[in-house]
Formats: sequence, C-alpha cells, structure tokens
Amino acid sequence: MNETRTASTGRAQDRSTIPAVSIRGLRKSFGDFTAVDGIDLDIRPGEVFGLLGPNGAGKTTTINMLSTLLTIGGGVAEIFGVDVARNPHRVRQRIGVTGQYASVDEKLTGRENLRLIARLQGLSRSAAQSIAAELLDEFGLEKAADKPLSTFSGGMRRRLDLAVSLISRPPLIFLDEPNMLKGDTYRASYLQCTGGVIASKQHPRSAGV
Ligand SMILES: Nc1ncnc2c1ncn2[C@@H]1O[C@H](COP(=O)(O)OP(=O)(O)OP(=O)(O)O)[C@@H](O)[C@H]1O
Ligand SMILES: [Mg+2]
Repeated sequence: MNETRTASTGRAQDRSTIPAVSIRGLRKSFGDFTAVDGIDLDIRPGEVFGLLGPNGAGKTTTINMLSTLLTIGGGVAEIFGVDVARNPHRVRQRIGVTGQYASVDEKLTGRENLRLIARLQGLSRSAAQSIAAELLDEFGLEKAADKPLSTFSGGMRRRLDLAVSLISRPPLIFLDEPNMLKGDTYRASYLQCTGGVIASKQHPRSAGV
C-alpha cells in the first residue's frame, strides 16, 4: 500500500500540533492471514491523504479500523489525539465515513435518508430539514430528492452516501473508493471538511477528488 498527500485545504494552517490521524504499528489479521502489517502514519489536520493500493492491499481494512467499524488487531491509532480502541464513541463524533458500498435505506427518498440520519445524530427537526436541503443542493440531487433511493443511479447513490457522511460537518472524513464521484462540484464539498483519508486503486486526482 502506498500513500499520497494530494492537497491541503485552506484550513490546513491549523495551529494544533495534534495530528488528525496518528498510527503506530497498526495491524490486522484474519485467522492466519495478515491483511494490515504494521502501518506508521501521521496525517495533519487539513491534509487530504490518499491510501493507494491494488485489490486486497488492506485499504478498506485500515479505514474500517480507523473509523471504529472493525476492531484494531494491533498497534495504536489516534484520531485528533483520541485513542480509537479505547474511545470509539469520541472518535465517531469527529469523523464522517463513506464506505465502499452504499449504506443508505432503499425505500426512503434521498431527503428522508438525510433527515433520518441527521435526527439520529441528534439534530432538531428544523436543523435536520435544513442540512438535508443544503446537502441535496450541494451534491446536485435536488431533482431526485423526493424519489425513493431504489430509483437512483449508482453515481447518485454514492453522492447521497457522501452527503450523509457530511451531515455533522466533521473535521475528518474517510472515503473508501470514491471513484464514481467525478468533478469539481463534489470536490468542493470534500474540502469544506478540514481533511480526509481517501482509499483508492488509482491516484485520487484521477478519481475525481
Ligand atoms: N472479514 C475478513 N475475513 C477474512 N479476510 C478478510 C476479511 N476482510 C478482508 N479480508 C482480506 O484482507 C485483505 C485486505 O482486504 P481489504 O478489503 O482491506 O483490501 P482493499 O485494499 O480494500 O481491496 P479492494 O481494492 O478490493 O477494495 C484481502 O486479502 C481480503 O480478502
Ligand atoms: Mg476496499
């Protein structure tokens, strides 16, 4: 697995010396098979970091451990100084995650999905309504907003999935294979966050990020 530091956002000049991501000796095995074999890494706040590698390199496994979706097999990972294994709940308050596969509800409309997740994250009804409208506009989904997700194309689902990960406007987002998200409109949305870790089989610039 390789790394690429692709860009810094305007907010990259964060004076904080605490890294957005700090990893020492991160490992994960499945039975006898070692999927992640000791990663050391520091990512600054505001940095957009690309985790590059071919199929099976361990990108999703790494992102899942950092985003608390998978238990850490060995080593230490901290997000903004918070230990991921010890304080997963605090880590979840600081991150957004868009997985390799869409994770939103098929029967609900785009707007309903966004509102539901915003409410689950503790936003008031009116705040949920307004962030849903804002994100649908930001991701070019207004026209399809009130149609069920089952009618969405693959690219539209990915955009909605990304919009969901930005509801809380987290200071760090993890994007697993955002290859279907081409173009500048969506790039702007990523970079409104102060930083991100992107897993990809190709360079993030050619993946449209
Ligand atoms: N739950 C699991 N049980 C057993 N093996 C697993 C499990 N999850 C992942 N692996 C294995 O770990 C290795 C790394 O998988 P991972 O999904 O992290 O790769 P990746 O870099 O994201 O690949 P891709 O580019 O295909 O998404 C692969 O060999 C995979 O088969
Ligand atoms: Mg993967």
